[in-house]
Amino acid sequence: MKKKVMVIHSSIEEIDRVYKWLDKSLRDLVDEEMSQKIILVCQEIATNAIIHGNRLLNRKLVIVTFTVNITSKEIRIKIKDEGDGIEKLPSKEEALNLCYLEEDGRGLKLAVLMSDKIEVDGNSIEVTFNI
Ligand SMILES: Nc1ncnc2c1ncn2[C@@H]1O[C@H](COP(=O)(O)OP(=O)(O)OP(=O)(O)O)[C@@H](O)[C@H]1O
Ligand SMILES: [Mg+2]
Repeated sequence: MKKKVMVIHSSIEEIDRVYKWLDKSLRDLVDEEMSQKIILVCQEIATNAIIHGNRLLNRKLVIVTFTVNITSKEIRIKIKDEGDGIEKLPSKEEALNLCYLEEDGRGLKLAVLMSDKIEVDGNSIEVTFNI
């Protein structure tokens, strides 16, 4: 098992750093398509952590933990903020009814649909991808 941690402040520019870090971390593990999928989901969750969790308060931190388990063929990414927590995840059914033209409420639905497992624990959310 391999584990890496990245800590960012709560400004939108930090999302680009997360993108580059994940892109580099995923390079030798999965193909380009899988990599883009994981990055898309993580960008949505990290953006939520910055905006909804930490309310764009720059001093508040977001901790991104990247774990690879070669034996169980899984990549897990946990994103934790300093907010009050995520109330609830959309169900698979709600996610499938996703309206792509909707202004809000797409991020978590995409995450539910595109990950293999998703779990919320207070102000942290973990997505798992089978590789
Ligand atoms: N880290 C978080 N902390 C607290 N609340 C959150 C967090 N992440 C999501 N939420 C809540 O869940 C809701 C749904 O999140 P989701 O990403 O699906 O939609 P959104 O961020 O409102 O819009 P967008 O479609 O642009 O992502 C948010 O509006 C917010 O109320
Ligand atoms: Mg969002």
